[in-house]
Amino acid sequence: TMNGKINGVHPNGRQPAVNGSGKAGLQSRKRKHVYMDASDDEPADTKGHKANGVTINVNGRDQQFRRNSGNLNGTSSAGSSKSRELQEQRKQLPIAQGREALIEQIANHHVTVLLGETGSGKTTQVPQYLLESGIAGSGIIAVTQPRRVAATSLAARVAAEQGTTLGGLVGYSVRFDEVAGPDMRIKYMTDGMLVRELLSDPLLTRYSVVVVDEAHERTLRTDLLITKLKTILKKRNGGIFPEGKGKGKAAATSGNPLKVIIMSATLDAEKFSKFYNNCKILYVKGRQHSVKIYHTAESQVDYVDAALRTFFQIHVDHPPGDVLIFLPGQEDIESLDKSIRLYANRLPVDKMAVMTCPMFAALPPAQQAKIFQSTPTNTRKCILATNIAETSITIPGIKYVIDTGKHKEKLHLAHDTGSGFDALLTRDITKSSAMQRAGRAGREDKGYCFRLYTEEAFEAMAVSSEPEIRRTSLTSAALQLKCLDEDIEDLDFMDRPDVESIMSALKSLWFLNAIDKSRRITDAGRSMAAFPLEPNLASAVLESVKNTCTLEVIDIVSVLSSTSKLFFDISDEREAAAEVRRKFRHRSGDHMTIVNALRSYQDVAATESKAARKEWCRKQYLNERTLLEAIKIRDQLRATCEKMGIDWRTSAQDDEKLVTKSLFRGLVLHSALLQPDGITFKQVYGRSVIKIHPGSTLADQKVPAIIYDELVYTNHIYARGVSAIPKAFLAEISIQIKNWVA
Ligand code: CDP
Ligand code: MG
Repeated sequence: TMNGKINGVHPNGRQPAVNGSGKAGLQSRKRKHVYMDASDDEPADTKGHKANGVTINVNGRDQQFRRNSGNLNGTSSAGSSKSRELQEQRKQLPIAQGREALIEQIANHHVTVLLGETGSGKTTQVPQYLLESGIAGSGIIAVTQPRRVAATSLAARVAAEQGTTLGGLVGYSVRFDEVAGPDMRIKYMTDGMLVRELLSDPLLTRYSVVVVDEAHERTLRTDLLITKLKTILKKRNGGIFPEGKGKGKAAATSGNPLKVIIMSATLDAEKFSKFYNNCKILYVKGRQHSVKIYHTAESQVDYVDAALRTFFQIHVDHPPGDVLIFLPGQEDIESLDKSIRLYANRLPVDKMAVMTCPMFAALPPAQQAKIFQSTPTNTRKCILATNIAETSITIPGIKYVIDTGKHKEKLHLAHDTGSGFDALLTRDITKSSAMQRAGRAGREDKGYCFRLYTEEAFEAMAVSSEPEIRRTSLTSAALQLKCLDEDIEDLDFMDRPDVESIMSALKSLWFLNAIDKSRRITDAGRSMAAFPLEPNLASAVLESVKNTCTLEVIDIVSVLSSTSKLFFDISDEREAAAEVRRKFRHRSGDHMTIVNALRSYQDVAATESKAARKEWCRKQYLNERTLLEAIKIRDQLRATCEKMGIDWRTSAQDDEKLVTKSLFRGLVLHSALLQPDGITFKQVYGRSVIKIHPGSTLADQKVPAIIYDELVYTNHIYARGVSAIPKAFLAEISIQIKNWVA
């Protein structure tokens, strides 16, 4: 069993077969994982976390979880038993004990930093306390989240707790999707959406409280908000007062003061507090039971395979309790999900059944809801999640965590290429992530965490990750700030972006014609910012107006802005997929191919049943989820065009050059020229040598010049989403671009 230290480790790594594993079809996977115990029963979240002299008592009220169960009288609107149950659950959350103290602190101060264990009730309860106590006044309470899935699922939960339907008292707003009504008082939204609202309402006057949640993630948008909120506080409240002072002065300058609450799961609290003139930090005691942590004895090359074996080891050897597996991304989740289901089907009938629940950003809401449903009897739930389940979303019932130690991280590779682009790379997590992940196992009772990496690897991890502002492209942020007449280099950030990154952003804006020579925003730049798109795609849309092909360009941009890819790219089935896709194929490349595929889908959708559509998509290796999302996005982009007086109906007809020319305007920094070898391409405004991705319709084609959506790294740098362009396009634009002086 698992509780021995290094007991049971056979020198040759061979282990007695796992019980029942033969019947379970695991013969080919008989290598059993060997773990070392690192925890000695210390609560996972405290171990090694004593930074800044702050310690949190995480052992609060362990066993009192269900003590008050039964019906408490006085919950007024206790209609259905479901809503009574929810009210009961609310009262049992650790944060409920601190309700009055919390309300008092927030009522008396402009800014509060609130720190607490994941699952203690911060995100769902604090907004409701603000509403119920009346301190939010008549304004809206905004609660920002780094991820859209968190914003939508939390809004649904809180609406249920308030006994209202989503879109009434509680709503949400994420890019391309909003559920909001005139009665809305609590709004869960992505940090990006609130930044966007600054453009139309620079003082955020609709809001009486802004709660910046998951602040420890330090996304670029969150950092921007933290910076902007400081100036907004000065304007709306007349300043940020340190604790003790200021009560009287609070409403001196405005009848509409703002309250800011920064919420975080980890120990970065002091940095936030310092930034806001040493405002008060409050702690919520969480419920944390001990978590035993095991590391592998050797490092694992194939973490998906290791996770599979570990899962069945748990399933066969360990008592009931749900399993949460952390993986870097959607592809790994889908592949592991398939394998687990395959093997689970071969388990003997007397074994507990397995129910898998994937959880990642691109998952449709209906499927997300599955993870919150209670596990059926005699079934073990296995949740396969990205780091979304680290802190943003608390899933009840987890007893076992399997941590691959990997996540996806966006990196701006400015120096590698000269021009700079974002790449999403699978990388090692940080120590603080590893501790958060382990902590997920100890919410309700003692838990276990199996790390698919060695203890040395854990020790070698960085303590916490660099804030995104220091590693991502600043182009979009710089444009938004320009619209507010502000320059990114002048702002007071918690961590400053580096100069090179700022210059790279300004250069991109110049290339897009969004700023002029004196770095002032242009009319075109303002129009770009009005679209809920990356500036380069917005620029393509604007260019399509000149080239009378907005219909096609919006189709393409909608698909490119979706959370998942349109074409399934399974390397084993690449040939079969290419074969059936031939009918969509356009000679100019992948962008017009998207238009063809989208149109074919709509023809099918116009006449066929839902099931037939789905089947059709499967046969074409098309992701229907992407198509449905793209059509929604397209509606919004068309609406944006109408607001701006742009006719989106203009069509290129058969002249695809109009389309590629428009796209080229936005993707100018993503252009490359064929080299004499006839295979590789050299970036026009960068130094990298790239190849066309084998999944592209232009793979193996000789074209003089290309534009592409993105670069991916494997054994080579590949361009994905490629179209051919005439060299003449490059000549036309180079004259304008030469005027750039860094
Ligand atoms: O923000 P924090 O991590 O402190 O906790 P929370 O998100 O407010 O969650 C409090 C409790 O609500 C957790 O125990 C969750 O299990 C529960 N919850 C839920 O059941 N369904 C949701 N969609 C969200 C939260
Ligand atoms: Mg939370």
